[in-house]
Amino acid sequence: MTKIAIVYHSGYGHTERQARAVEEGARSVEQSVVSLIPVAQAEHRRAELDAADAIVFGCPTYVGSLSAAMKSFMESTSRTWAAQGWKDKLAAGFTNSGSPSGDKFNTLVDLAAFAAQHGMVWVGLGLLPRYRDEQGREINRSGSFLGATAQSPGVDHANEPGEDDLQTARLLGRRVAQAAARWTK
Ligand SMILES: Cc1cc2nc3c(=O)[nH]c(=O)nc-3n(C[C@H](O)[C@H](O)[C@H](O)COP(=O)(O)O)c2cc1C
Repeated sequence: MTKIAIVYHSGYGHTERQARAVEEGARSVEQSVVSLIPVAQAEHRRAELDAADAIVFGCPTYVGSLSAAMKSFMESTSRTWAAQGWKDKLAAGFTNSGSPSGDKFNTLVDLAAFAAQHGMVWVGLGLLPRYRDEQGREINRSGSFLGATAQSPGVDHANEPGEDDLQTARLLGRRVAQAAARWTK
């Protein structure tokens, strides 16, 4: 059994859809047990994070960086950091924003640096940019390698992010769960 935790923030629901897609992808790997944890619940669900083999962090990009709620969660882990309690767990990240870039890269860098501070081992997206899958979805359409990105331009809120980006997020979840299964062998 491999335990994957996904801890995320979403102010208006868009990044939550992306987080659910990561969850779906992770669940598609046999033997994986997945916890989807909104940052607001992270404090009382800390045991699930501590027990995880891999933790995926995700938040929207706000003013060119991590959303404040995610940053606040990160700071709340300082005791774990001091004890290096998450050392050698796998980590990965995702973010979503309104613009095609919107400075999402900066958010992924912040997530990766946070994971490195915890001694975690970062798993990148591992997908070539802008390929069409058999269903015509444009996978990794932003050409990000550090993590999964999505765009929610605010035109059609009910369908944002779109299927291209949701599938990219599923593939990140799947990759992390597969990597965790190998890591814990
Ligand atoms: C405070 C704030 C700051 C934002 N800053 C950015 C930004 O820097 N770049 C960008 O492309 N979009 C920005 N946006 C748009 C959000 O990233 C976008 O609406 C995203 O889908 C919100 O995700 P959520 O529904 O999970 O909160 C910002 C939105 C808010 C509310």
